Amino acid sequence: MISLKKLNKVYETKSGQVTAVNNVNLEINKGEIFGIIGYSGAGKSSLIRLLNGLEKPTSGSVHVAGSHIDSIKGAKLRKARQEISMIFQHFNLLWSRTVRENIAFPLEIAGVKASARKKRVDELIKLVGLEGREEAYPAQLSGGQKQRVGIARALANNPKVLLCDEATSALDPQTTDSILDLLVDINERLGLTIVLITHEMHVIRKICHRVAVMENGEVVEQGNVLDVFRNPQKPITKRFVKQVTEPDETNEVVAHLLELYPKGKVIQLTFVGESAEQPIITNLIRNYSIEVNILQGKISQTQSGSYGNLFIHLDGNEAEINKALAFIYEQNVEVEVIANA
Ligand SMILES: Nc1ncnc2c1ncn2[C@@H]1O[C@H](COP(=O)(O)OP(=O)(O)OP(=O)(O)O)[C@@H](O)[C@H]1O
Ligand SMILES: [Mg+2]
Repeated sequence: MISLKKLNKVYETKSGQVTAVNNVNLEINKGEIFGIIGYSGAGKSSLIRLLNGLEKPTSGSVHVAGSHIDSIKGAKLRKARQEISMIFQHFNLLWSRTVRENIAFPLEIAGVKASARKKRVDELIKLVGLEGREEAYPAQLSGGQKQRVGIARALANNPKVLLCDEATSALDPQTTDSILDLLVDINERLGLTIVLITHEMHVIRKICHRVAVMENGEVVEQGNVLDVFRNPQKPITKRFVKQVTEPDETNEVVAHLLELYPKGKVIQLTFVGESAEQPIITNLIRNYSIEVNILQGKISQTQSGSYGNLFIHLDGNEAEINKALAFIYEQNVEVEVIANA
């Protein structure tokens, strides 16, 4: 659906050249939710503007939904861009138009007749869950509702690709989740390909199938979300993964516990896929005469399976602890003895 080859974007500025996108190669499949994560200035928005032809690459090729976006112009480009919609962090709604009129806007531009327009707008309002709010103005809507209008408007002309640039960054966590659920629903129902840009690993974890990590204009790592969570390669990727798997207070909790329990072992278990649901702890307690204290744990769902992190403290006589450890090693979990008191 999307193919980027040797893509470069260099901006000329008064203070010299800025390389915003540096030799990016990416293949994104039809029906995929593909995440691009990076810190501020990594080049994410530049990359997305190359995808919809808002910017021309300095070199390299951009192929989206059957069109060579990098080389077409004028009417051809406008036509190709109907296949590539976008939603924004700050919604970019028309403030003097109602919900219905905002959603109808791209249909008007595409020359859809009034009766067909009304029918389509009604469908879209239902799809994004805005029934009853049709005549409201954007100023009368919550952030989540505004983004629903943005999504409905983006879907009006049946695009093949939806680009999302920090589409949930202005929303609170709960509203973020409901918008992400809506994107998954749309992806599944319509088979729409979604490219999503974010600086939050939570967003990637929750809805993306694959992810690319951007740093200084380059894609430094990419893969299936679960694989990247399980085995991040680059330091920047490890930092992003920790946003989700390791709450800030973990180190404090562990340090405190080591003081509290000067004996035994503190262990970090990482569960991936099916093993996340296995009752390992129950088996430990039942089968070994040790004490097991759960310090901190979290299981997260990704699109391709669950991923969990559990810190436990094992106490008891050393031989028994070692037996228990041997049992854990046999399970399909990663084990790290992080402190050996
Ligand atoms: N139109 C422009 N002219 C000159 N430089 C630009 C332009 N747009 C972006 N840049 C520069 O390109 C680099 C990448 O910017 P970009 O906006 O793509 O990053 P980003 O990853 O989207 O960041 P953020 O998370 O803050 O939105 C930055 O150094 C930025 O200053
Ligand atoms: Mg940006």
